Amino acid sequence: MSVEERKAAGAAFNSAKERIESALEHRRAELALSKLEARLAEEALDVTLPGRGRGRGGVHPISRTWQRIEEIFGSIGFDVADGPEIETDWYNFTALNNPENHPARSMQDTFYVDMQDSGGLPLLLRTHTSPMQVRYARMHKPPIKVIATGRTYRVDSDATHSPMFHQVEGLWIDEDISFADLKGVYVDFLRRFFESDDLQVRFRPSYFPFTEPSAEIDLQFASGPLKGRWLELSGAGQVHPQVVRNFGLDPERYIGFAFGSGLERLTMLRYGIDDLRLFFDGDLRFLRQFS
Ligand code: FA5
Repeated sequence: MSVEERKAAGAAFNSAKERIESALEHRRAELALSKLEARLAEEALDVTLPGRGRGRGGVHPISRTWQRIEEIFGSIGFDVADGPEIETDWYNFTALNNPENHPARSMQDTFYVDMQDSGGLPLLLRTHTSPMQVRYARMHKPPIKVIATGRTYRVDSDATHSPMFHQVEGLWIDEDISFADLKGVYVDFLRRFFESDDLQVRFRPSYFPFTEPSAEIDLQFASGPLKGRWLELSGAGQVHPQVVRNFGLDPERYIGFAFGSGLERLTMLRYGIDDLRLFFDGDLRFLRQFS
């Protein structure tokens, strides 16, 4: 190009370059703005929403019953013991005068564990807390005065029976502990537990291989949808001489009573609840009422 032509073309190129650069800059700014707008819309924080908060937990009604039982019996001189949920067949049945193949075993069918203890004895999930009578009595000298609370298992399931439930075992052995003492101690316990002297309690004759005589203890609902209905709370009785012998004691000298009560039943009666399965559903609408 001639000098004159180069001048004109240079100016035209420069002006074209400026237009392109400014168009690019304009577009870049447009894109950045729309990206920012999209991000702001996506991450928008609604400061008017209520916070999530952290709810306070509460003690489960069965645990509350457990604590109250230990407090009441502890205050009248009962020791508080604890034992294994996986139990040997011997402690759960045989030591309680319930020999192999005895029909009374079928009253308490359970879940068996596919293992044996170190002595080759079959293992099972305990059907009641009564094995603790034998475990404790073999380790302590009379007078023996103990309660043992814990989980128990059976092949049971309906509104008043659950496959896993809780019992408290009571045992008092000395030289002169009678059925009258059982009635006195147990009714006094119920009065303190329900905080009422006006209770309808019934001792109904029954059978257990490990007590003689035996009774079932029933209490009447004072409130709730089952008001007026009787519910069985406990098995109880004078400890059978053969079981006293299995404690390692002389039944001619030592005598006393034992009882085993259902914690779910005590809790149902205390709060007027008609279905024990509610305790294990984990429904906070139900559980919150107790905290
Ligand atoms: C026994 O378990 C005896 N060991 C009680 C006993 C102890 C008798 C000491 C004599 C001396 P029974 O099977 O009746 O007895 O159960 C006692 C209580 O446990 C019942 O009254 C009931 O309150 C509760 N219970 C029994 N099975 C269930 C279940 N599946 N679900 C909830 N509670 C239960």
